[in-house]
Parts: sequence; C-alpha cells; structure tokens
Amino acid sequence: MNANPEWDLIVLGAGASGLMCAATAGGRGRRVLVLDHARHAGEKIRISGGGRCNFTHLEADPSRYLSNDPEFTRGALAAFTPHDFLALLARHGIGHKEKSPGQLFSDGSAEKIVAMLLDECRRSRVRLVLGEEIRGVEHDARGFKVRSAHAEWQAPKLVIALGGRSMPKLGASGLGYELARQFGLKIIPPRPGLTPLIFSGELRTTCRELAGISLLAEITLESTRIRDDLLFTHQGLSGPVILRISSLWRSGETLEIDLLPDVDLAERLIEAKKVESRLTPRTILSRWLPKRLVWQKTADMKADAPLAEIGDKRLRAMADTIHHWRVIPVGTGGYERAEVTVGGVDTNAIDPLTMACRTIPGLYFIGEVLDVTGWLGGYNLQWAWSSGHAAGLAV
Ligand code: FDA
Repeated sequence: MNANPEWDLIVLGAGASGLMCAATAGGRGRRVLVLDHARHAGEKIRISGGGRCNFTHLEADPSRYLSNDPEFTRGALAAFTPHDFLALLARHGIGHKEKSPGQLFSDGSAEKIVAMLLDECRRSRVRLVLGEEIRGVEHDARGFKVRSAHAEWQAPKLVIALGGRSMPKLGASGLGYELARQFGLKIIPPRPGLTPLIFSGELRTTCRELAGISLLAEITLESTRIRDDLLFTHQGLSGPVILRISSLWRSGETLEIDLLPDVDLAERLIEAKKVESRLTPRTILSRWLPKRLVWQKTADMKADAPLAEIGDKRLRAMADTIHHWRVIPVGTGGYERAEVTVGGVDTNAIDPLTMACRTIPGLYFIGEVLDVTGWLGGYNLQWAWSSGHAAGLAV
C-alpha cells in the first residue's frame, strides 16, 4: 500500500453517523473521504420522523437501547448529548419542536438537517464521493484500501458507518456485517426492528375489518409492558406500541393486548347493570371504544341483550376479550418496512469511548451497524450522532 496516502481517513457510509464522524474528524484537520453507493447523502435522515426528522430524545441513556451490553452506549451518549446536537442546530438557525416530552423534531423539513450536516462537512473540507458501489476492502499494516468498480482509495484509518439491513430501497445492504466478518468480528444475528406485525387466518381478517382504527393500548410481552397508540392495518397491527414491541418480539411469542388499559371494564359493566340495566353491553363499551371494534370483539357474545339479562360471569368474559386479547403474529414487516435492524457487530470487540475495533488498529464501527438499537422516539439518530462524534474525535 502507498506510504503517503491522500487521505487520513475513509468513512464508508454517508448516513447519519458517517456524516457526523466525517465533519468532526475534518474539523480537527483530518483529511477525510466519505464513500457511499447512494446518489444522495443522508437518505434516511431525509425521510425520518415522517419528513420532520425526530432527531433526538432528551432521555437518551443506556436504558433506552437494546444490545447485549446496553452500558456500552453510556460513554458516547454522555460525551455528545442531545443538548450538544441542539447547540449544533442552533448554530445553523434550525429550530425544533417537542412532540411528546423529550421527543424532538425539526421545526421544518428533515432536509434542513441533512443540509446542516453537509454544510459542516464542507466547512471541514470533507470530500464526499457518492454513487460508488464498494467492491471490497483490503488491509495490511499500513492501512486500508477500498475498491469500487471505478477506483480505489487508501487511508491508514477506516470507519464503517454502513448501517443495518433495514429499508434496502434507501440504500441499506449487509456490507457492514460482511466487512466485520472479514475482520473476524462476531455479529449478533440481525433482525428487523421497529416494524409492523403481520397476522394470518382469522386474526388477519379481524385486523382487515378494523383497518384504520387507532387507539391507546398496552401490550405485554413476557416481563415487558408498553403503552402507546395501536393501529389496525390490512395485514395486522402497527402504530408506535407495535413498532416498539416488535424490536423485542421473537417468532412464536404471544402478545397480550389490553385495548382499554385505563378502564376496569368488568367493574364498569357490573356497575352499569345496577343503574342502567336496560342498556346493552355494546352501548356501554361504545362509550370508550370505537363501535366497529366493540361489534367485532363481542360478535359471539350476545352483547346486544339488556344488561339485566346477562350474568356477571359473562360480563367479565366480555371485559376479558378487551383487556386480554392474546395474539401470535406470523411475522414482521421485514427489512422492507423496518425502521431499524436489531443486532449487529458485537460491542465486546469495540472500545466504547472511541468506537475503535480492539483487534484491528485503525478500524472503527459507528451507528446502526453495531449491536445497539434505540427505542422509538429519536434514540437511534442520537446514537448515530454520539457514536459518530466519538469516532470523529478519536481518528
Ligand atoms: P444509515 O442507514 O443512516 O447510513 C448508512 C449509509 O451507508 C447509507 O447512506 C447507505 O447508502 C450506505 N451504504 C449501505 N450499504 C452500502 C454499500 N454496500 N456501499 C456503499 N454505501 C452503502 N431514527 C430516529 O432516531 N428518529 C427518526 O425519526 C427515525 N425515522 C426513521 C424512519 C425510517 C423510514 C427509517 C428507515 C429509519 C428511521 N430512523 C429514525 C432510524 C435512523 O434513520 C437510523 O438508525 C440511522 O439513520 C442510522 O444511521 P447510520 O449512519 O448507522 O446508518
């Protein structure tokens, strides 16, 4: 390999973590080259948060991340916090909005955030080469050689910021994992996360009949309980509560869904029987739930008889169908519909403060390619910023 390469550092991937790392390293005087096969940098940022970019969550700490070792995230998150990203936005005159407590979005389009990162890269004299399909990486004691179909580049340091497998149409590929394997690193098996869940048979028919209905629900999966909005779709279930639980769900596991978590329905129905005995359970249930859902869930329960004629046991059974709906999905929406990939490069092999690979000097991994997956709500981009920044300071 060339003894005097043109670049100090090559970053593979011009996504959220790669751009942050490149701007940070370039700002320290490093000569940085960023390579990506996409035509535009930051494609996922551009469509994130429904086009508004949910760029961080103020509560980002290790408890909000799934990983074999969530503590791995602590140092990088503490060294570049949501407030540091806010300060960067402020320097570029970009405002923000808080949707739910701590969950921050751009006050304009997500495009502004991509433009900000590209501007930071320009100021740091980072060279961006887009539309380059990476064919391979070679390594010897002097550094790394990256080959594409048309060219090759060399540098003593290489940062892998290639993301996971989710959303191939936005540029995702498995190259980050392939390279990690080439360098002898262990991969925690990847799977789709933050994705809708799919059902078959009768359950699918039920969901299709209720498609479009959205309501607050609480889902229990083993010892985890999550409360958020649920949406019925033509294929199954979606909405924030499903996306969040999907990152934990494994094939064959049962979900228990409470469709009315704030009301003790059995008590309300038995109470109503005393004072409104001519009304039907359906009328009572429709006070809290969409009619279509009530009709569907009570179809086989004679719920259109007056309360006076129904025993307490049956009223309790009706309440149970709403509070304890047990379902087994047949699968997830797959990588095509998953916002993130759970699993990835085992963090045991990575220094948590610099993102350097412990076994290969000069090699770094940042962002989603690592076995670090945030909850829904801005945590994944914060991890991209924090890990990218950590590597940018270290290279
Ligand atoms: P990222 O995926 O951003 O970048 C990887 C880069 O590598 C891409 O530019 C890709 O083109 C390139 N690449 C991949 N393979 C290559 C190859 N073979 N050759 C060359 N280049 C290659 N998170 C959040 O916190 N808030 C939000 O609002 C959202 N919203 C959201 C919506 C949708 C639809 C998706 C899909 C994802 C989100 N996310 C999110 C998740 C968030 O976007 C994601 O976690 C980060 O972008 C990950 O940053 P990385 O830099 O690790 O990968």
